[in-house]
Amino acid sequence: MQNKIKAAITAVGMYVPDKVLDNKYFESIVDTNDEWIKTRTGISERRLMENGATSDMAVYAIEDMLKDKNFDRDEIDVIIVSTVTPDMFFPATACLVQEKIGANNAWGFDLSAACSGFLFALQTGASLIESGRYKKVIVVGSDKMSAITDYTDRNTCILFGDAASAVLLEPTEDDKYGIHDSILRVDGKGKEALYMKAGGSALPASHETVDNKLHYIYQDGKAVFKVAVKGMADVSVEIMEKNNLHSDEVAYLVPHQANLRIIDATAQRMGLSKDKVMINIDKYGNTTAATIPLCLTEYYRDGKLKKGDNLVLAAFGAGYTWGSMYLTWGMD
Ligand code: COA
Repeated sequence: MQNKIKAAITAVGMYVPDKVLDNKYFESIVDTNDEWIKTRTGISERRLMENGATSDMAVYAIEDMLKDKNFDRDEIDVIIVSTVTPDMFFPATACLVQEKIGANNAWGFDLSAACSGFLFALQTGASLIESGRYKKVIVVGSDKMSAITDYTDRNTCILFGDAASAVLLEPTEDDKYGIHDSILRVDGKGKEALYMKAGGSALPASHETVDNKLHYIYQDGKAVFKVAVKGMADVSVEIMEKNNLHSDEVAYLVPHQANLRIIDATAQRMGLSKDKVMINIDKYGNTTAATIPLCLTEYYRDGKLKKGDNLVLAAFGAGYTWGSMYLTWGMD
């Protein structure tokens, strides 16, 4: 009997824009202060993409990922772009990325699952590899959150940043490594707690929607916080139990970075100390689909993430969407 094909991450890359917006900057534009932002969210800085769109950031991250890889771009089978800030409604950002990186034989699509987007896209990409039909799948999380942020709303503007990060999925020859399992969920009851009110088919763009600032992120922070803290922790514990994974065997929790308090609560429920949690929210804020692969890229390049490390990835976002994934890092 043939062994089940497994997917593993075999390359990582990232892009963050140069322009830094620190908490002092926000003190100058809305009624807030550094102390409030740091203690309530864990954020000190975030990045701003001044020139270019989501596809450009995705391309920079993919180029960074592919710079040490010696294969022909014609070998790339699929490009999955996770984003809530596509360059435009259509064509898909994946098409724009395909052209810019010269992946002549690829197909691809955008995947919209907000802050859980990377996790959903990674599982989708892994399933394509597991099917046996595809050998090289690029999964990129890219979000230009500044494009949909109202910089007069202190409730949301301090939270988000722009960034992109990519991973390459390939079949693994050693099935000790790679993506073992995931638990993914959606619940449309959350649809009005975190969303962009206008611009879609329910409420198309008009002078009125623009005047009423309906093309920006709306969030009922308190409501989302309550469900996020439970949802992310529940599903992280569930995947450990399902796979008989003890906290001693987990090298890192790799959480979506929306709020340090949500991350701390999840780690605590999993029985993990702080040094076993990947964090970048302090430097980049909430970069939506990019948070998790950014963590993986930076920790790997810093030598803190090693071959054989067991990881639990976890996210919660608009929709609601949430989930967790268990994988073993296979890169030397
Ligand atoms: N500076 C100062 N005060 C602020 C502020 C800011 N930037 N933003 C909000 N406040 C105020 C509020 O107006 C409120 O004042 P009030 O009590 O006079 O009405 C007070 O701070 C507390 O607001 P609250 O919303 O309860 O704060 P919080 O502790 O819940 O923190 C969030 C707000 C957004 C950081 C937090 O709710 C959160 O992280 N929510 C979940 C985010 C998430 O996980 N999203 C899903 C993935 S994107």
